[in-house]
Amino acid sequence: MTEAGNTAEIGVIGGSGFYELLTEVQRVEVETPYGAPSDAVSVGVVAGRRTAFIPRHGSHHELPPHKINYRANLWALRSLGVRQILAPCAVGSLRRELTPGTIVVPDQLVDRTSGRVQTFYDTGAVHVSFADPYCVEGRGAVLKAAGETGSAVRDGGTMVVVEGPRFSTRAESRWFAAAGWSLVNMTGFPEAVLARELALCYTSLALVTDLDAGIDADESVDQESVFQVFRQNTERMRDLVLRTVEELPAERNCHCATVLDGLELPFQLP
Ligand code: ADE
Repeated sequence: MTEAGNTAEIGVIGGSGFYELLTEVQRVEVETPYGAPSDAVSVGVVAGRRTAFIPRHGSHHELPPHKINYRANLWALRSLGVRQILAPCAVGSLRRELTPGTIVVPDQLVDRTSGRVQTFYDTGAVHVSFADPYCVEGRGAVLKAAGETGSAVRDGGTMVVVEGPRFSTRAESRWFAAAGWSLVNMTGFPEAVLARELALCYTSLALVTDLDAGIDADESVDQESVFQVFRQNTERMRDLVLRTVEELPAERNCHCATVLDGLELPFQLP
């Protein structure tokens, strides 16, 4: 394998259906100071741009949300040269109008996880700005790509990330909706903040797979329907990711790129 074969500029963290996104794939085993990523990183080409892919839950979906080594995944991608990350994920809807099959590009996040490692900076004083958790340029690229495909994509929404692996109770779900949040998920945090801590651009593409328990009094979520809706929409999501890669700027002019400037880091970034 050539050196260039190991490098990439764009990273995708998503479901295993995304393996087919890449051409000329090289599988790269990456070791990190934090242990092993969810799988070997697949590096290839998307729309002429070198792109790396990690299946978030492992190649056989063996890792539940609270067992994913988020730090290793982000570190591995950065060490291959990745600076911009697209993160497709499944979400429950907290609003009746966001029906299953809708793709949302969230602009805000609420962390309701507990006990997950959520920082690279266990020593020193590194406090990154996270007021806007998602990359402005990345979000713009998804929305532009969606406009070109004619795919109905919603701009904005707050994603609350729960610890899982259970789904929410009806009371929790109603509470989230009453707070004004629109989506619920189990993997969006700490993935987003760890990307920010490595000065990576991070953009979430959230596919609504179900109405969460608080929306309809006699309905609740089950795993099989979540997986089924996700499978039914894999191709559409893949197409959107592919077109978004084409729209991502070659040079970054966003806040994510400079968020660590002037801070004294306790280690060198890869
Ligand atoms: N992922 C997909 N649907 C979900 C839901 N209803 N709650 C939490 N995570 C989810």
